[in-house]
Amino acid sequence: MTRLTTRIGNLTLKNPVICGAGEQTMTAEAIRAALHSGAGAVVAKSTNESQAAKAQLDKTDYVLLDSHWRRLPWNFAPPADAHLFGRSGLVQRDFDQWLEELAGLDREARMLDSYVVPSLILSDLEQCAEFARRIEQAGLRVLELNIGAPHGEEAAKGAIVLERGAARIETIVRRIREATRLPLWIKLTGQSEDVVGLAQAARRGGADSVVMMGRFMGFLPDLDTGLPLLGTSAAIGGAWALPLTARWLMLTRKAMADDYPLIATNGARNGLDVARFLLAGACATEMTSAVFTGGYEVLSRAVEELDAYVASRDSSVEALLGSAADRVESYQQQADRPGWWQGFAPKPTGSPE
Ligand SMILES: Cc1cc2nc3c(=O)[nH]c(=O)nc-3n(C[C@H](O)[C@H](O)[C@H](O)COP(=O)(O)O)c2cc1C
Repeated sequence: MTRLTTRIGNLTLKNPVICGAGEQTMTAEAIRAALHSGAGAVVAKSTNESQAAKAQLDKTDYVLLDSHWRRLPWNFAPPADAHLFGRSGLVQRDFDQWLEELAGLDREARMLDSYVVPSLILSDLEQCAEFARRIEQAGLRVLELNIGAPHGEEAAKGAIVLERGAARIETIVRRIREATRLPLWIKLTGQSEDVVGLAQAARRGGADSVVMMGRFMGFLPDLDTGLPLLGTSAAIGGAWALPLTARWLMLTRKAMADDYPLIATNGARNGLDVARFLLAGACATEMTSAVFTGGYEVLSRAVEELDAYVASRDSSVEALLGSAADRVESYQQQADRPGWWQGFAPKPTGSPE
């Protein structure tokens, strides 16, 4: 046990920094690099049985944008407020080979006190249940299932299921729960008016943890060409997403009222962001875009930054979990005091800049 040790249900991670699923976890070499960076766990790029989802990988495209929506160079040193706009597909490998490779990598991960987490994206439920069963049989120790990938409504029909219905989420999770006893992390969409309700449904179905929340879809006109940037709608992410994710974490923590393990995704760019998510109620945080655009050192740096923060509070990850979420007040509960507006004066017209 160290001050960074965290628990996700029955699973103990050496620290809460998880490398999330994406192109930077698509090959054995990439997963090894993420493991050696010191991450508590590494989620492999997702797969499923859909040929259309695999084919979509050939149509991936990404662009990194500054806060004025101008293209940034892809130089592994993005500014903290860079936006990543893009579309992606799924691993093109054959399932058996993929599974064997991940099982081998997870054996390597044990030596580093870490985990390789296989990730499925829902397409056909029965096929997904069969994959879940085989993942357990292969000796892997956790399963992440993404049922909220933002590309769901753009991809070929059924290739990537984006589920927003609580009742269906419960049914899906229950079926996967029947297929495997592995710790089951369900990754949820953020494109819902009631992410808390989706999390509660996943829990009722038997999820050991929920990962929240998937990115939003966006559309960006390109002023130079007059056309859609990248030609399509695409998923949009950035540091700006952190407070949105943190709010759903806080609300879900309050609704669950019992330290049910929540995992954050969407918006973390460094170790202090992992700390922010921790205080909002996430016992671990997945970082994807920051690693994809900044390199694997982002993970080792995040562990160091988080450690320095926790040490400066003379505390531990377990003690800090949810501490800000547990102190949040409603507008009505706020003590009476002079409102900020009372000191506010609008900029006089004609005054110098
Ligand atoms: C290029 C790219 C590929 C991704 N591929 C996957 C994937 O295969 N499976 C998955 O569950 N999430 C995938 N994601 C979503 C990320 O894991 C993560 O949830 C999301 O980007 C928000 O977190 P971030 O702000 O740390 O990037 C992908 C994201 C990006 C940017």
